[in-house]
Amino acid sequence: MESVQNIRLFSVRVLTPADAEAYRSVRLRALLEQPPAFGSLPEAEPNLCETAAKLAESDERCFFGAFQGEQLIGIIRLSRYSASNEKHRAYLAGLYVLPPFRYHGCGRALVRKALSRAANTPGIRRVNLTVVTQQETAIHLYQSFGFRIYGTEQETFSRDGQFYDEHLMTLECNSVYDYDA
Ligand SMILES: CC(C)(COP(=O)(O)OP(=O)(O)OC[C@H]1O[C@@H](n2cnc3c(N)ncnc32)[C@H](O)[C@@H]1OP(=O)(O)O)[C@@H](O)C(=O)NCCC(=O)NCCS
Repeated sequence: MESVQNIRLFSVRVLTPADAEAYRSVRLRALLEQPPAFGSLPEAEPNLCETAAKLAESDERCFFGAFQGEQLIGIIRLSRYSASNEKHRAYLAGLYVLPPFRYHGCGRALVRKALSRAANTPGIRRVNLTVVTQQETAIHLYQSFGFRIYGTEQETFSRDGQFYDEHLMTLECNSVYDYDA
């Protein structure tokens, strides 16, 4: 796989509806990843208009993107449960870095940014996520932030006749860890 040099010059920011086309393109690439990193089906992905609407930041959802120059090279979503008795929980989803841009700290920067947002949002006590058991880089990355595996869901989804399990991971936000460090 070709690797891109000088990748350290990336930046991470909140995505907006204006990023819809770039986001959707990276997201569709993520859904075709082999081995699979996500159970969502490409054909079920929202159209451009719906994607733009989803990217509008709200109390319940925020997307972050990593950019090299103008190019979107990585994505992550932080969502918060909306019910009044579940608002103390948030979840990370959709972490993905385009293959040529991997192994330069981009994934770590995206997770750090999303966790920083969660830790600085009053009321959020816990962040959860699910990760396909084969995605060892992602699991290692999450564990390095303090996430722990609390269960494994068997055969969460299938692709091409093969079934995939997912780990359930959780992180308490009340640690003194400075995610922006
Ligand atoms: C998981 C993913 C986002 C990581 O992106 P990335 O930009 O490569 O991440 P980073 O560069 O921050 O590195 C994260 C980890 O990768 C590994 N890594 C880094 N450089 C590496 C290298 N040269 N060789 C091998 N592994 C390396 C390390 O475990 C590193 O953790 P460390 O910082 O403690 O050493 C990326 O691999 C990806 O998109 N995977 C497919 C999608 C996926 O699994 N998403 C998770 C959905 S829940």
